[in-house]
Amino acid sequence: MEIKRAEKMGFCFGVAGAINLCNKIAEEKNFQGNLFILGMLVHNKNVTSDMEKKGFKTLSEEDLKEEKIKLNKKDTVIIRAHGTTKEIYDILEKEKVKIYDATCVFVERIRKALIEAEKNGKKIIFIGDRYHPEVKGIVSFGNDVTIVNSFEEFTKFSVDKEKEYCLLTQTTLNKELFFKIKEYTEKNYKNIDIFSKICGATYERQKAVEKLAGEVEMVLIVGDNKSSNTKKLYEISKSVNEKSYLIQDKTELNSSWFNGIKKVGITAGASTPEEIILEIEKEIRGTFDDKHGL
Ligand code: F3S
Repeated sequence: MEIKRAEKMGFCFGVAGAINLCNKIAEEKNFQGNLFILGMLVHNKNVTSDMEKKGFKTLSEEDLKEEKIKLNKKDTVIIRAHGTTKEIYDILEKEKVKIYDATCVFVERIRKALIEAEKNGKKIIFIGDRYHPEVKGIVSFGNDVTIVNSFEEFTKFSVDKEKEYCLLTQTTLNKELFFKIKEYTEKNYKNIDIFSKICGATYERQKAVEKLAGEVEMVLIVGDNKSSNTKKLYEISKSVNEKSYLIQDKTELNSSWFNGIKKVGITAGASTPEEIILEIEKEIRGTFDDKHGL
């Protein structure tokens, strides 16, 4: 049986950086207080339980704001790749804990652009999901930010032609939506500056699974069923190839899926560790491949 991997899959640059940072800190072993990760480092239960084994506890932003948890100067807090809000940075600094900031560089650039634009007297229009932690974090650094999440919402927003604006986007914004808004803006306004730092990782993984699903008889999408980018990969794959299955690890493989299959495709969400993918490939080779004699 042939196993074909998607051209782009698995950890993105930001997630890999955050996990490497945690591993490095855990290896140092010279910390005295608690080791905390702010929110969920990544949406993957294997990664989360691995981090727990290494001594990390999860710290929720709500508990911090509501003072349900008391931090100690000796504690260490890691900020995840999506970043966090200004309010949380202020609390952590006030508590004088050791902070390791794993905010992805792409998120950081947008945050800096927002602060700079407001300093230069511009109004901010932000395109993205207002409930997403990345968006909540970035916009919290601004004073007067209008968030829109669709072309319709954008066109409904009344732009004051006397004022200067800066248009910013969430890193994972859908590129088609961005280009539609960009075209409309350039045609209709002279007073809106566009700053786009959409991260290619999500888009590349989606395009790659779309291609892969058309080239194989069955697709395995590996990742946590709570991870939104993994679910999106599954939906895209399923729309092209009916035999698409989302699994979290090798224990969820089903032998009946492999009946008569000669070519299987495999992809993984941006928060799925490489070890899990390798274990699945090994299981296919060792169990299902032999069993069906293909
Ligand atoms: Fe960063 Fe892009 Fe991943 S913004 S966290 S590299 S999806």
